[in-house]
Amino acid sequence: MSKIKFFDTTLRDGEQSPGVNLNKEEKLQIAKQLERYGMDRIEAGFPASSKGDFEAVQAIAQNIKQSTVLGLARTIKSDIDAVYDAVKDAAKPAIHVFLATSPIHMEYKLKKTPAEVVETAVSMVRYAKEKFDHVEWSAEDATRSDKAFLAEIIEKVIDAGATVINLPDTVGYATPEDYGNMFCYMKEHVPNIDKVELSCHCHNDLGLATANTLAAIQNGVTQVEGAMNGIGERAGNVALEEVALALHVRSDYFSYTSSLKFDETKRTSDLVAKLTGMYVQANKAIVGRNAFSHESGIHQDGVLKNAETYEIITPALVGVTPNTLFLGKHSGRHAFKDKVNEFGIELTDAELKTAFEQFKQLTDHKKEVTDDDIYAIVMEIKTDS
Ligand code: KIV
Ligand code: ZN
Repeated sequence: MSKIKFFDTTLRDGEQSPGVNLNKEEKLQIAKQLERYGMDRIEAGFPASSKGDFEAVQAIAQNIKQSTVLGLARTIKSDIDAVYDAVKDAAKPAIHVFLATSPIHMEYKLKKTPAEVVETAVSMVRYAKEKFDHVEWSAEDATRSDKAFLAEIIEKVIDAGATVINLPDTVGYATPEDYGNMFCYMKEHVPNIDKVELSCHCHNDLGLATANTLAAIQNGVTQVEGAMNGIGERAGNVALEEVALALHVRSDYFSYTSSLKFDETKRTSDLVAKLTGMYVQANKAIVGRNAFSHESGIHQDGVLKNAETYEIITPALVGVTPNTLFLGKHSGRHAFKDKVNEFGIELTDAELKTAFEQFKQLTDHKKEVTDDDIYAIVMEIKTDS
C-alpha cells in the first residue's frame, strides 16, 4: 500500500473562513493537536499578510518537531523572505508559493500575459529554492486553466526547483472525472513530472471536494491538502478527516495508507470547532454529533444485535466516546456544564447561567431532554451573544 501525505491548511486556508480569526496561542494549540493527529505537513499561515500571522507561524515553527511547517507566499520576494524568517527555526521548514494560471485570473487579477506568468513563477520558485529544500508551487485556479499552458509552466517550475506541484480546484468547479483527468494529462505531458510529488487541493463549492480528492489520489496524487471539519473560504476546503476515513474504511478499494492517528480525529475536530467558533453540523460525516446516533427503532435494534448492521466506522476508531451522560430535571449545573463541554462548546459564566435556566424550564414540561435540546439551547445563546 502506498502512503498518502496529509497537508493540513486549517490555519491558513481554513482561517480564511468568514468570521474566523485565531490568535497566536490558539493557532499554536491547534498546530500541536494536528501534530499529535499525525499530520505530515502543516501550513501554519501566510506570514506576509500581517504581523500577527508572522508571529503565529514563527511560534508554530519553533514548537512543532514531527510535521513539516510551511508558510504561504505570493510570487513576490518580500513574501518569500517573510516565510523564510518565520519558519527558518522549524525542524522541517518549507515554503508554499502560488500564482494563478487561469485566463480569468491572469487577465483580471494579475493583469499579466501568460508569458509573464511563466517568467514570474519560474524566477520566484528559483528564488525560493535558494532558501528552501522543500518548495511547493501551486497553480491557483488550475481547474479553469488551459491544460497545455499548465503543462508548460509546471515543467518550467520543476526545472526551477519546485519539489511539490499542487493543482488546486480553487473555486470548487471540477467534477471527480475532470479533476482526475487533469492529473493524468500532466503525467503524460510534463516530461520531468516524476521528479516531484503531486498534490491536490479541493474546495467544496459544489459539495464535491471529498470525491474530487479521492479521484486525484486514484490518478497519482500523493499529497492531499485540506482543513479539519472542511472549514475555509466560501463552502470550505475538503474535510481531511473524510478523506482519511474513506481511504481507511475502503482500503479494499483504494489501497492507500496515511500516518494519521484516527483516534485523535474527534479531539482535533472539537478543538478546531471550539477555537474557530465554526461548529460542525450535526449530520457531518465522521465528526458530526449524529454520525454515530441511531434514531429509528429498526436501526437501534440492528445495532444492538450487531453494530456493523448500520455502522461502517466504530466510534472508538475516530476517538468518539459513547455518550453516558443523560440529563433531566434532577441534574445540576455541573453536569450541565460537562454536557456543554462534551459538545466542544465553551460558555461564559453569564451564558452558562442563561443556558442552565432555560434547560431547567424545559425539564419542567419535557420528560426526556435530549442532547439535541441542550445543543439547541446553547447554540441559540451563542448565536445571540
Ligand atoms: O485554493 C487555492 O487555490 C489556494 C492556493 C493559495 C493554493 O488556497
Ligand atoms: Zn484553497
